[in-house]
Amino acid sequence: MTHQQMLDLIQLLNDYSYAYHVKDEPIVPDAVYDRDYRQLQAIEAKHPDWIQADSPTQRVGEKPDSGFANVAHTVPMLSLDNAFDNESLSDFDQRVRKLLNTDHVTYCCEPKLDGLAISLRYEDGRLVRGVTRGDGLSGEDITSNIKTIYSVPLKLRTQTPPAVLEVRGEIYMPKDGFEKLNALAIEQGEKTFVNPRNAAAGSLRQLDPKITATRPLVMCAYSIGYVEGWDQPKSHYEGLLQLSEWGFRTNDLMATAEGAQGCIDYYEMLNEKRASLSYDIDGIVYKVDQIALQNQLGFIARAPRWAIARKFPAQEEMTRVLGVDFQVGRTGAITPVARLEPVFVGGVTVSNATLHNKDEIARLGVKVNDFVIVHRAGDVGVTLKANVSNRKSVTDRLVEQHCSNSKYFVNACSAFAS
Ligand code: IVH
Repeated sequence: MTHQQMLDLIQLLNDYSYAYHVKDEPIVPDAVYDRDYRQLQAIEAKHPDWIQADSPTQRVGEKPDSGFANVAHTVPMLSLDNAFDNESLSDFDQRVRKLLNTDHVTYCCEPKLDGLAISLRYEDGRLVRGVTRGDGLSGEDITSNIKTIYSVPLKLRTQTPPAVLEVRGEIYMPKDGFEKLNALAIEQGEKTFVNPRNAAAGSLRQLDPKITATRPLVMCAYSIGYVEGWDQPKSHYEGLLQLSEWGFRTNDLMATAEGAQGCIDYYEMLNEKRASLSYDIDGIVYKVDQIALQNQLGFIARAPRWAIARKFPAQEEMTRVLGVDFQVGRTGAITPVARLEPVFVGGVTVSNATLHNKDEIARLGVKVNDFVIVHRAGDVGVTLKANVSNRKSVTDRLVEQHCSNSKYFVNACSAFAS
């Protein structure tokens, strides 16, 4: 095989992978990809000096990192103000219109993906670095782990890339990948993760990229952080379409909306869809669509004046087990029911949960007076997810830390909302 044929083979494999991981439209069976991949591996073994940076074989580095270096962001990664109801969303729109002295604003609406923020730097179209959000001013260089994620392009899909491009987005773990990962952990007697976000965070923190490579992570781009040598489109939405053309995954539910009412309609639409999505979202991000208007609005403290996050009601809450009753059904079957201190979760008050399976209660190790995490998804009921009785504080952080270490986690103990 000639050098040029090898370059063509890389292009072919990258096209297969783009179709599969970015477009969700595979164009060849897995076996074809695997066969071509092995052929590429064989050529690279024969000609190590031919190896290209964008070869799919270069996604998984051989050596573990010794630690993650701290890197300053070119442009700070801001956080977002929150709105928890329609009224505060309308207040936001009113503030924006007053500052801009206009009576109508177009917004770009995007699902707020529940993962971790990342900034990817491309120089002359090639991925050179991936940095976590960190404190917003600087983060950790996790490039070797980022490269293992197939939806992250190693090279932009254009012949005329900008000299420098920094893309911001979210790395998350889809629900089905999370379930599989936890099922495997239970099978192997290892610790499980309490939710997809924790699993994504744990996967990115690995020093060995070979471990990260086995985790089903996805990257979705949500903004252009910085660019040199290219004229940005006039609107945020067009910027996202450009990122999509360059080979990034963008969210297919992103849309523009007119005024506060358009934003509220989008909320209603997405809230309906939320439970059926293949990934977790915790709200919606609304952004003033015109870049010139964004610049005019600027930011205060760490948050832009031109964007807001509308949060959905929390799907997970913590509460205490008050006691256990045993219900006798018509057939004589006995079902234990946990009586819970009433807690408002996912839009309803939950005060008990049937515990279908004795083994699972044992595995959770739930005892009366213990604290548990109650998870509610859609209308299907509630799940006791973890026993967090040993927690030292009720802050989310500690609960998260404890849960990701929890040997008690079980996701199969389903029950019904009262
Ligand atoms: S835009 C200035 N868009 O939410 C705008 N953020 O507090 C900054 N997030 O951790 C962010 N989905 O990673 C934006 N479609 C989206 C998002 C999104 C999730 C996360 C982001 C950050 C947090 C913002």
